[in-house]
Amino acid sequence: MGAGGRAAALCLLTLGLTFHVTALKSQLFARFGGSSSSGDSNISYETLYFVQKIDHFGFLEDGTFKQRYLVANKHWKQPGGPILFYTGNEGDITWFCNNTGFMWEIAEELGAMLVFAEHRYYGESLPFGQESYSDSKHLNYLTSEQALADFAVLIQSLKSTLAGAQHSPVIAVGGSYGGMLAAWFRMKYPHVVVGALAASAPIWQFPGLVPCGDFYKIVTQDFAKSGHNCDANIRNSWKAINNVTSTASGLQWLSEEFSLCAPLKSPVDIIVFKSWLQETWVNLAMVDYPYEANFLQPLPPWPIQVVCKFLAFDSAVSDHQLLRGVSRAAKVYYNYTGSASCLNTSQTATGSLGFLGWFYQACTEMVMPMCTDGVQDMFEPEQWNFQAFSDECHAMFGVRPRADWAGAVYGGKDIASHSNIIFSNGGLDPWSSGGVTRNLTGTLVSILIPDGAHHLDLRYSNARDPASVRAARQLEVKHFQQWIKTASTPGL
Ligand SMILES: *[C@@H]1O[C@H](CO)[C@@H](O)[C@H](O)[C@H]1NC(C)=O
Ligand SMILES: *[C@@H]1O[C@H](CO)[C@@H](O)[C@H](O)[C@H]1NC(C)=O
Ligand SMILES: *[C@@H]1O[C@H](CO)[C@@H](O)[C@H](O)[C@H]1NC(C)=O
Ligand SMILES: *[C@@H]1O[C@H](CO)[C@@H](O)[C@H](O)[C@H]1NC(C)=O
Ligand SMILES: *[C@@H]1O[C@H](CO)[C@@H](O)[C@H](O)[C@H]1NC(C)=O
Ligand SMILES: *[C@@H]1O[C@H](CO)[C@@H](O)[C@H](O)[C@H]1NC(C)=O
Repeated sequence: MGAGGRAAALCLLTLGLTFHVTALKSQLFARFGGSSSSGDSNISYETLYFVQKIDHFGFLEDGTFKQRYLVANKHWKQPGGPILFYTGNEGDITWFCNNTGFMWEIAEELGAMLVFAEHRYYGESLPFGQESYSDSKHLNYLTSEQALADFAVLIQSLKSTLAGAQHSPVIAVGGSYGGMLAAWFRMKYPHVVVGALAASAPIWQFPGLVPCGDFYKIVTQDFAKSGHNCDANIRNSWKAINNVTSTASGLQWLSEEFSLCAPLKSPVDIIVFKSWLQETWVNLAMVDYPYEANFLQPLPPWPIQVVCKFLAFDSAVSDHQLLRGVSRAAKVYYNYTGSASCLNTSQTATGSLGFLGWFYQACTEMVMPMCTDGVQDMFEPEQWNFQAFSDECHAMFGVRPRADWAGAVYGGKDIASHSNIIFSNGGLDPWSSGGVTRNLTGTLVSILIPDGAHHLDLRYSNARDPASVRAARQLEVKHFQQWIKTASTPGL
């Protein structure tokens, strides 16, 4: 996650281009589908491995690798009971498994088997072992198309080898990038899955499909509605940082005020610092959950409201006062448990899973434009610059992104010919900017969760869940039951 992002960011870091690093890191965050781990989860599964072709689409590379997948069949009603199939994101599949409480909570009601399939190049599913990231020749097989093919081949195999599974309807479930995969899986392999739940899946966050500024606008709105002047003070803080850091004593003061592990020294340090702060606000917007949770960091319920208590100044406040408020606000995110000894501008999130892989994907197929204007959002203005982004990618991996490929292969906005996909989106989630937030057809449905942050619906249920997410989960199960019923009715 964000933490690992730094290593990559260091490679990329050039003056003025950190924005794209932040955009990359925001994307990186998206892969953390699920949620916080739930202490009371009572889950058990079998860990299995399936031999996959490294290349499903060409015939020269004939090597194989072992794809990890997890199976829980405690509640499975066989023969023919449904299979809920989690289309793994770019990370360790056990993490997603542990944290997609929704699937565990509905397994019994549906009599379903749960399968969690790891995405190639992440966790243990490395086509070239530990060498997988050593050069871009090896990375060449890290694509969403290959991952979908892995899922299809795995399911075909399960159905032909597992007693009682031959006629089991399969439903794809995923959140974030995993949600994009779930939706695309149903589009590309409708004979393999009867439907898909794509939670917080920004399938339209691609060039030319949505305004590049929407993502950061939503982040800003979250802060604007969580406290008096909260967004305005963050908007003012960038200039205050520039002013205060214009002197050596100011640099030192700011470093001490933020308890930074390494004091700010150079102009590049200041850029990194601002980018880190920006990413902090973005992360908070994604995990603005109504209850205490530990997603990227341990946080209180409605963390943005807590943050905004330190940012409620009226306009005439000195730069130093303002920045003192910002530092206290940032420490809500970095020091909620009180155990941080210093703040590290190289880290924005705990843990680090597969960050390099996601950077590679963002640098090839998953081009997601982002921009800010400082007016409709609370950030420093920064245009989307595809060329600069492409140059960074080239410097890092020796490849250049193909801006139009995702649209060409997955249809962009022209997807009405598909069916049986639920797109759920949280109103607080910045990724809803690229999500499907309206009903497209009778069977391509959109469920809005106004009080929901990043795929709240996939998380374990909680006493503090807003009514909107409870209703969303009910509706999702209703669709699942409908798809299962239709699939099990002969002659339809
Ligand atoms: C876990 O499941 C077992 C058996 O299904 C049950 O006896 C136990 O109470 C459960 N534990 C929790 C914490 O839910
Ligand atoms: C998932 O849960 C299992 C069992 O509780 C645990 O052993 C494992 O470390 C967890 N994995 C992750 C990535 O949190
Ligand atoms: C810039 O910072 C100095 C102190 O470092 C302060 O006296 C001055 O008022 C600030 N300027 C603005 C425009 O806030
Ligand atoms: C984190 O909080 C604890 C407890 O309030 C405090 O002692 C410590 O100095 C804080 N750390 C930072 C980096 O501010
Ligand atoms: C800050 O984080 C980076 C990246 O995780 C790490 O390499 C570095 O050692 C950390 N610095 C300190 C002082 O903790
Ligand atoms: C889509 O249609 C369903 C069923 O009519 C409705 O409940 C839901 O609110 C609609 N979604 C949106 C985003 O309008």
